Amino acid sequence: MALPPGPDGLVLRKAEYEAFKSLFSERLGLALASDTPASLARRLQDRVICHGHKTFAEYMQLLRFSGHALDEWEELQDILTVHETYFWRDEAQLRCFRTEILPMLAEQGRERRRLSIWSAGCSTGEEVYTLAILVHESGLFRDWFVRIYGSDVSKRCVSAARLGVYGQSSFRAMPSDMRKQYFHDRPDGAHVADRIRRYCAFGQVNLAHPDKVRLVGAQDAIVCRNVLIYFDPATRRGVTESFVERLNTGGILVLGHSESLIHVSNALELLALKGDLAYRKPVGSFRSSPEFLKPT
Ligand SMILES: C[S@@+](CC[C@H](N)C(=O)[O-])C[C@H]1O[C@@H](n2cnc3c(N)ncnc32)[C@H](O)[C@@H]1O
Repeated sequence: MALPPGPDGLVLRKAEYEAFKSLFSERLGLALASDTPASLARRLQDRVICHGHKTFAEYMQLLRFSGHALDEWEELQDILTVHETYFWRDEAQLRCFRTEILPMLAEQGRERRRLSIWSAGCSTGEEVYTLAILVHESGLFRDWFVRIYGSDVSKRCVSAARLGVYGQSSFRAMPSDMRKQYFHDRPDGAHVADRIRRYCAFGQVNLAHPDKVRLVGAQDAIVCRNVLIYFDPATRRGVTESFVERLNTGGILVLGHSESLIHVSNALELLALKGDLAYRKPVGSFRSSPEFLKPT
């Protein structure tokens, strides 16, 4: 079965649609559950045309076998993933992070005086700077070593996050007094103030590659919101195992509101806070990969 041709005369056959979906699941861990054949064809057609191909099948050949495929996979990952984000996203959850989770972490880390938080899948960085503002305003970590690490698979997003210059739409949910306090308006946009930026670092990490995730240091908290929903079940399980490995004992995992670990992992305990649900790595838990079967 074939769909009617798109505006450029390209036809995505049902079999090709299925083949692309399984290739994207296998290579990128993406589920693409909400993509119909027509929407996938729309997303891919510019890439097909850009390579001078006349059919989706030729493009599939390039992805599978060409020497240029590595660059193309990076382009594709950017096109196939959703990068939507903004400061102060889900205020109730952030309030709970500030009033319940940060005090727990301050108590747990009071001897080491180090706080490491990882925003995994941070897109263009708004979540990282939001977390940095919360940590700063809490006043609980003065004179501590504080590192808030933001990572994303998209090179373009990581560059934007490092730049830390934002347009109006990023501020749709942030209180205006906070914006005034922590950003400087310049002709090219609102710049994150240095006293917030100094806590933050960024890197490109594909969460579906456990060897890359292992390079991220031990964390007191991992915030991974609105990312797992795009993964297929096997990738979701693998990413969660990597998170469990990266968390210190007592460390906290915060997911987005539409995400949970039901049917994914039971290595973390559910933490029912007053304002939200989160997950915690229990004392005496085991690392998940077989080579690390000893208590942490
Ligand atoms: C919808 S945004 C969420 C941004 C932020 N966490 C928030 O909630 O506002 C999802 C981000 O996950 C990133 N992402 C998707 N697949 C990824 C992967 N395999 N590894 C790392 N990041 C990935 C995308 O590039 C995108 O920027």
